[in-house]
Amino acid sequence: MSKDVVVAIDGPAGAGKSTVAKALANALKLKYLDTGAMFRAVTSLVLSSGLDTHDEIAVGSIARSMNLVMEHGTVVANGSDVTADIRSMAVTNAVSTVAANSLVRANMRDRQREWSDHNNGGVIEGRDIGTVVFPDAVLKVYLTASPRVRAERRVAEAGGNINEIERSIAERDLKDSTRADSPLQESADSVVVDTSNRTIDDIVNSIVELVRERLK
Ligand code: DC
Repeated sequence: MSKDVVVAIDGPAGAGKSTVAKALANALKLKYLDTGAMFRAVTSLVLSSGLDTHDEIAVGSIARSMNLVMEHGTVVANGSDVTADIRSMAVTNAVSTVAANSLVRANMRDRQREWSDHNNGGVIEGRDIGTVVFPDAVLKVYLTASPRVRAERRVAEAGGNINEIERSIAERDLKDSTRADSPLQESADSVVVDTSNRTIDDIVNSIVELVRERLK
């Protein structure tokens, strides 16, 4: 067991992972890592280079050679600022295919572990953080919310048609949770938190309490 404190925040799209994980990192004075942004950065490079997202070897090679800098809320891949592009519809629609690629996943896993070693742990959000990447995390939280609430949050953030967004979230959830490599799933030892009817403060306070108890 490493002495690093890793808090894993996993769950489907729109469950509130980023909001909760950032506030939690702040409260616990830990660094924060958005691993979804890493898969999105690979996807952005794949699309801009005109590659087929299903070309496993070529996409794996883009991931391996990618120079990625994530700091102060910006994401720079191979020298280009892709902070806005990684949230585009094109990237959102293609990212599940790239995230199902085992070569990409192995590379992202290595980078995530290196990041943690470098920062003495952190609050890390994703889909497989507690199940695969950091099985020894101090606390594993599985955040969830009803599909409608998750779609409503996305519409409030970025606009769009609620029914279409709900359908696209459901499609991505299905791809993420049925892929062969590191699917999205609760881990046996995760704490499940439904964020549908709770305030951020309430959720963050209760997770901080859980972390403190684990560290006693
Ligand atoms: O959290 P997000 O929506 O930004 O994630 C983008 C995609 O990346 C999502 O479809 C699932 C995938 N992902 C993953 O497979 N593993 C992670 N640890 C994080 C994200």
